[in-house]
Amino acid sequence: MLIPIEQLPRVALERMNKVHEKEIEIMNELYQLLQEYEKGEVSIEDIDRAFNEFLEDVKYHFSSEQEMMEQYNFFAYPMHRGEHDMVLGQLQNLQKNWEKNKNPEIIKSYLENQFLPWLINHIQTMDTVTAHFLSHFIRE
Ligand SMILES: [Fe+2]
Ligand SMILES: [Fe+2]
Repeated sequence: MLIPIEQLPRVALERMNKVHEKEIEIMNELYQLLQEYEKGEVSIEDIDRAFNEFLEDVKYHFSSEQEMMEQYNFFAYPMHRGEHDMVLGQLQNLQKNWEKNKNPEIIKSYLENQFLPWLINHIQTMDTVTAHFLSHFIRE
C-alpha cells in the first residue's frame, strides 16, 4: 500500500472526496502489483492492466473537477486545469516509456516520488479552494 485512505486530505465537497478515495484505491492496487512483480508473483500483463486502469481513473478524476469548475465559473479554473494538464503530460510520457521498455520500476518510482506527493499537495491547495467555492453552489 502506498498510502492508507484515511491519510488523504479531505475537501468540502463529498463527491470530490469520493473520487479521490477511488483513485487511492486504484493506485494502491497498482502499487501492490508492482511490489508483487518484484517477488515474481505477477506478470507484466497484470501490471499493464492495472496501469491502464489507473490512467483512465486519473483522466476521469481531472475531467470531473474541470466540468464543475466550468459549469460554475470558478475564478481559478485555468490555474487548476494547468496543474492537471502538467500531470497528464507526465503520465503520457510515462505511458510511452512503459510501452517501449515495460519497466515496472519506473512506474513504481513515479508513484512514490512524483504522483503521490503532488496529489497530496494538489488536494491541500487547488482542490481545497475549488471545493470550498463549489460547495456554495452544489448541495449534497
Ligand atoms: Fe482532485
Ligand atoms: Fe484537481
